[in-house]
Amino acid sequence: MKQPTDGVMDRAREVRTRAYAPYSKFGVGAILVTPDGTTFGGCNVENASYGLAICAERSAAVSAVSAGYREFTEVYVAGPADVAVTPCGACRQFLSEFNRTMTVHCTTPDGIQTTTLDKLLPGAFGPDDLS
Ligand code: THU
Repeated sequence: MKQPTDGVMDRAREVRTRAYAPYSKFGVGAILVTPDGTTFGGCNVENASYGLAICAERSAAVSAVSAGYREFTEVYVAGPADVAVTPCGACRQFLSEFNRTMTVHCTTPDGIQTTTLDKLLPGAFGPDDLS
């Protein structure tokens, strides 16, 4: 489990300002970090057809994979200042495809909380589980 790097959560907060969340009004920003330190940001993007909303974490992953990166060591997730944010179940599964043990940093009203994806999603189904 990695300690948060200075400034990266601030970048997640910056990406959060671009969230398109007119329905939930719950903006989220995420930054994914690759082993060479390259970072990719994403925000949540909602839709009038509510179920089509994509979370910030998956936005960031889609952006990174589209740019040719598939290995991630950490994800930073920034939500509204007054609540503790945590990746939803779908995002836990989506991110665990790329690294089951990646470090997850989330904003809370008391500061950044750090954990790992395997703690958030024990026994995840992954690419190695397909026959
Ligand atoms: N959301 C995220 O983007 N990431 C999270 O970690 C939690 C939830 C989004 C989905 C939806 O657009 C809004 O926040 C409310 O659930």
